[in-house]
Amino acid sequence: MSASTTWLVTGAAGFIGSNFVRLALSERWCSRVVALDALTYAGNLENLAQWTGEPDRFAFVRGDVADPNTVDRVFAGHKPSAVIHFAAESHVDRSIEDPAPFIHTNVTGTQVLLGAARAAPGSPRMLHVSTDEVYGSLALDSTERFHEDRPYDPRSPYAASKAAADFLVRAAFHTHGQDVIITNCSNNYGPYQFPEKLIPLAIMNLLRGERVPVYGDGLNVRDWIHVEDHCRAVRACLEHGRSGETYCIGAENEQANIAVVRALAELTGRGESAIRYVRDRPGHDRRYAIDPAKARHELGWEPCIPWKEGLADTVRWYRENTSWLENVRTGEFLNFYDRLYGAQ
Ligand code: NAD
Ligand code: DAU
Repeated sequence: MSASTTWLVTGAAGFIGSNFVRLALSERWCSRVVALDALTYAGNLENLAQWTGEPDRFAFVRGDVADPNTVDRVFAGHKPSAVIHFAAESHVDRSIEDPAPFIHTNVTGTQVLLGAARAAPGSPRMLHVSTDEVYGSLALDSTERFHEDRPYDPRSPYAASKAAADFLVRAAFHTHGQDVIITNCSNNYGPYQFPEKLIPLAIMNLLRGERVPVYGDGLNVRDWIHVEDHCRAVRACLEHGRSGETYCIGAENEQANIAVVRALAELTGRGESAIRYVRDRPGHDRRYAIDPAKARHELGWEPCIPWKEGLADTVRWYRENTSWLENVRTGEFLNFYDRLYGAQ
């Protein structure tokens, strides 16, 4: 992409969004990022702290992606040349408790953003970041993997809301010829992940001398990819993907949950007694696995962070960033926006 590009990144204060912004700005993938984020419980402006003093390269807008006035204002004010849509309610357990915010942000938010991108001068490309969970669940004893042509079969309210969003994106391409791309990625891990998800929750508990809750029999399988490998795939899709296409992203790294937790217990010097089996998640999908052949062959993208190295680096990051973890655990991070921008 040319040097004079402004990328609108929604959900930029979350886990993957903030890693994407850090790479995009430090490696100069674009010249400027406009971050739009509502700063929900999962949005942490501390994740973007290094850029908040660089107005030529970075602007932060606190706002709801489902609010058309806010979104129209961002498009009119910043004229983005591309949109990367990460903003979402992202935690399956929360969607089981209360699906309403998932419909608001994931479905309505995507619809509002699509409309604004289409109406903006030049109709900038919109890359919609989705999940492998839309494809459903695979059997433990099969070698089947998810691929782009697999029919959708979402099984949690979270997955259903992401599937609805994906269909809206596909519909915008077919109905309006809008320039859109969808990525469906597997489970991410790495720095800045909110400790409600398995890996950061386990690390936090292990470092604090507490036990890690493992759902059910611990044999559910997830296909883990380092967040930086995912972000590089998003960039490759944005820059080289074909309009209207879907790309499945994964690192071909299937791990049983119990194996992940045991590896983390070892890395933190804790033993088997740090693990506690708890009641299973309702409707718990058994196995996810991605076949990333299309992204590899069409885009030349390859994941390059080996699992063992990535996991050890991740544990190191949480060990070295105890104040980040403590701010998240205590809720102190919620004051960060007011400290930087003043209460509104
Ligand atoms: P996250 O929960 O860490 O971050 C979500 C961000 O979106 C937060 O900063 C939050 O404040 C913001 N947000 C929520 N509602 C908003 C709204 N209405 N308006 C504006 N901003 C809002 O999520 P994540 O793990 O970084 O996931 C990012 C995206 O990637 C999501 O779309 C998710 O579905 C997808 N995804 C995640 C994974 C994963 O393993 N984490 C894997 C595949 C795909
Ligand atoms: O597959 C991609 C998806 O991965 C993303 O779309 C979601 O946004 C992301 O949250 C993630 O969903 P999962 O439900 O797979 O992630 P989670 O970290 O919640 O759980 C991973 C596995 O670990 C899952 O099988 C449930 C289990 N688990 C989770 C937690 C939080 C436990 O056993 N104990 C726990 O405490």
